[in-house]
Amino acid sequence: MAVKFYQAQNQVPLEMHKVRMVQKISLLPVEERLKRIQEAGNNTFLLQNRDIYLDMLTDSGVNGMTDLQMAAAMRADDSYAGSETFTRVKEAVKEVFGTENVLPAHQGRACENILSSALVKPGQTALMNFHFTTTKAHITRMGGTVEEIIADKGLLPQSDDPFKGDFDLDKLRATINEKGAENIAFVRVEAGTNLIGGQPVSLENMLAVTDICHDNKIISVLDASLLQDNVYFMKTREARCKYMDIKSIYHLLADHFDIIYFSARKLGFAKGGIITSKDAKYTKMMMEYIPLYEGFLTYGGMDVRSMEAMAQGLYESLDMEYINQGPEFINYLAKELHDYGVPVVLPAGGLGCHLNAGAFVPELPHNEYPAAAVAAALYIAGGIRGMERGTLSEQRNPDGTEPYSELELMRLAVPRRVYTLSQLKYVADRVKWLWDNRTLIGGLEWVEEPTVLRFFSGRLKEKGYWQEQLAEKFRKDFGDSL
Ligand code: F0G
Repeated sequence: MAVKFYQAQNQVPLEMHKVRMVQKISLLPVEERLKRIQEAGNNTFLLQNRDIYLDMLTDSGVNGMTDLQMAAAMRADDSYAGSETFTRVKEAVKEVFGTENVLPAHQGRACENILSSALVKPGQTALMNFHFTTTKAHITRMGGTVEEIIADKGLLPQSDDPFKGDFDLDKLRATINEKGAENIAFVRVEAGTNLIGGQPVSLENMLAVTDICHDNKIISVLDASLLQDNVYFMKTREARCKYMDIKSIYHLLADHFDIIYFSARKLGFAKGGIITSKDAKYTKMMMEYIPLYEGFLTYGGMDVRSMEAMAQGLYESLDMEYINQGPEFINYLAKELHDYGVPVVLPAGGLGCHLNAGAFVPELPHNEYPAAAVAAALYIAGGIRGMERGTLSEQRNPDGTEPYSELELMRLAVPRRVYTLSQLKYVADRVKWLWDNRTLIGGLEWVEEPTVLRFFSGRLKEKGYWQEQLAEKFRKDFGDSL
């Protein structure tokens, strides 16, 4: 139940936890920030944490753990085989999903490697609402291709549609007919669709997708990494879920999907990865790859303390007072910005608040990487680290041409239980300043471009001297403020 404020105008999202451990962070002067981002090749992945005030790169593995998670980590059993820790992880997965077949892996993309190694044959296609960077890289590495079946509404940066991650079901049926079920490796539903702004998929749509898969004898896969936020949106936006308890939603999904995998850096607020299924035939198909790539079947490359924290984190993912925190903070930030006129993805989703860089700097072409330019500019403006989620995060086609991303987004992830509302207000303030000075933002060009997952380690430089001008304008407007 939400806590209502006596003065409605003062209503803010209210935490149902208190903070008992803190970590010092620092904010460098703007001249230093300018230097640091240029040294980092204008790639926020290459910034050093000591140079960052608010790290909003990701919500992966950086969420605040609970006292019970920390306590659980202390009793870990690190036996190589048959570890009690793994038994406890299995119990937690069974409680949350109702499944008994559990494979461990070191993180989400390791699950994707196993899944692709076992299920993708050269020439096959994996259908999905939307790709994720690491998912696509693993499927294409196996000689497969990815096709997105997102409903048109998903690509509208702003709308009031509650479930922009939904599949276009007619298109899904037509694509299966056209390609033939035998040419489809699997259909993957990504909960809390990351690259379109953390947008949820409705329960109704997820179940319809699994029915279509079942009718066509195609394996259905749920990427549950962002399922926690997605379940929050099902509960608050979908009539049929309002009175369902949270656990019964997770269980219903596990009854319908053949395979579920997730990054426990997100679901479970710890580190690691899990693949699970109701029917042992699916885990058997993948099992042999675990000792090969990850580690023995009772740890899968994970540290046992993280596994214990994950098990506790999974139980906590059933608690509305915990799972509402991310979406409500994100909504608060998105609303602050939208009310000022800043183009953000609406409705606000999970994971983070997404600036629509395409509309922020509309004159910048895709191949000057508008979302990366806005990310570099925001670091200069406020020591805030966001992440490019646009053309730069795509991979080049085999012929070297560049696929332009439909959405050029700059993501400000909101790690859960880490930053306060005053810090989010600071973020909003610096983004608003940047919006008012957006004509100063220019493009970026490559200095070093890696061939695989180039966004992680590629280096770029500014076109012209816009970054120096932006820093000078900051100094002029803010005087001697940091
Ligand atoms: N699937 C989704 C939907 C994800 O968001 C991620 C990671 C993965 C799979 C891969 O998991 O990182 O544990 O290997 N997303 C992170 C992010 C990296 O910042 O959005 P991983």
